[in-house]
Amino acid sequence: MLTINVKDLSTPELHTYLQYAIAPRPICFASTVDREGNINLSPFSFFNLFSSNPPTCVFSPSRRVRGNTTKHTLENILEVPECVINIVNYAMVHQTSLSSVEYPKGVNEFIKAGFTPIASELVKPPRVAESPVQLECVVNEVKALGTGPGAGNLIIAEIKLIHINEVILDADGKIDQAKIDLVARLGGDWYCRVTEGNLFKVAKPSRNIGIGVDAIPYAIRNSKILTGNNLGQLGNVETLPTDEETEAYSQSPEIKDLLDATLGDSQTRQIQLHLKAKQLLDEGRVEEAWKVLLLS
Ligand SMILES: Cc1cc2nc3c(=O)[nH]c(=O)nc-3n(C[C@H](O)[C@H](O)[C@H](O)COP(=O)(O)O)c2cc1C
Repeated sequence: MLTINVKDLSTPELHTYLQYAIAPRPICFASTVDREGNINLSPFSFFNLFSSNPPTCVFSPSRRVRGNTTKHTLENILEVPECVINIVNYAMVHQTSLSSVEYPKGVNEFIKAGFTPIASELVKPPRVAESPVQLECVVNEVKALGTGPGAGNLIIAEIKLIHINEVILDADGKIDQAKIDLVARLGGDWYCRVTEGNLFKVAKPSRNIGIGVDAIPYAIRNSKILTGNNLGQLGNVETLPTDEETEAYSQSPEIKDLLDATLGDSQTRQIQLHLKAKQLLDEGRVEEAWKVLLLS
């Protein structure tokens, strides 16, 4: 394990390690205005949702490492404490990147990057028409994290109005995670795209209390076949199947064949049962997996 004391690295070196490791990061495409009404548009991946009540996002325009100057977005927000956070999808990603060029103050990146401004309803900065979700925000607080090069400035922005392009909604009027086609920033020049093929679900821990990995019988917990993910799934159940349920399951043709074929060979039987349980877990069939494992 490489262990690094942050004191031993330069800010750019640190930045690289952290950006590759703390990823993917969603992208806040922030539009702001200065007190004269000049418009600015810039992307920030030091960004996330931090509260639903009040609905609040935080993003951070850092002090520039070269020259230790502040970014126009920060300066604008200190003059006019409002912004629109435009969510970035794949169709916008190259233009979004172009807007991050260090244009002089007063240059409107809507024009430089070729985006379409539309007037906001509550705040002065315009929205990006191409963005699938646009959040009109009032900035409640700006917190500087330091005064040196690379220091972040937390912009604490309360969401007041949400605009959603209907094309990303499902039949129930909710955002369809596949349709929104999000992108996120990683280390260096890397980005990732959230496509249907790489989405997967993890069942929320039971509303009631899952038994935990420590309550899984030793032989199952130390299986050479089951993975950490599989143990997490098994530990998420609240109760184990009863002996009657397990016995009934053992009569199903596939399991019966497996038990018959391994009669008198407990080691092979355990391996076969664990392989079957793993297959069921990978298909999300946790209760059946437990029944198989309890036969081992
Ligand atoms: C996808 C992406 C994410 C970025 N994230 C950040 C960030 O979180 N913080 C930051 O200070 N700069 C970030 N940058 C760089 C700024 O966008 C860039 O410095 C921008 O020009 C600042 O513009 P401004 O001075 O007009 O506010 C990012 C750039 C890109 C392309």
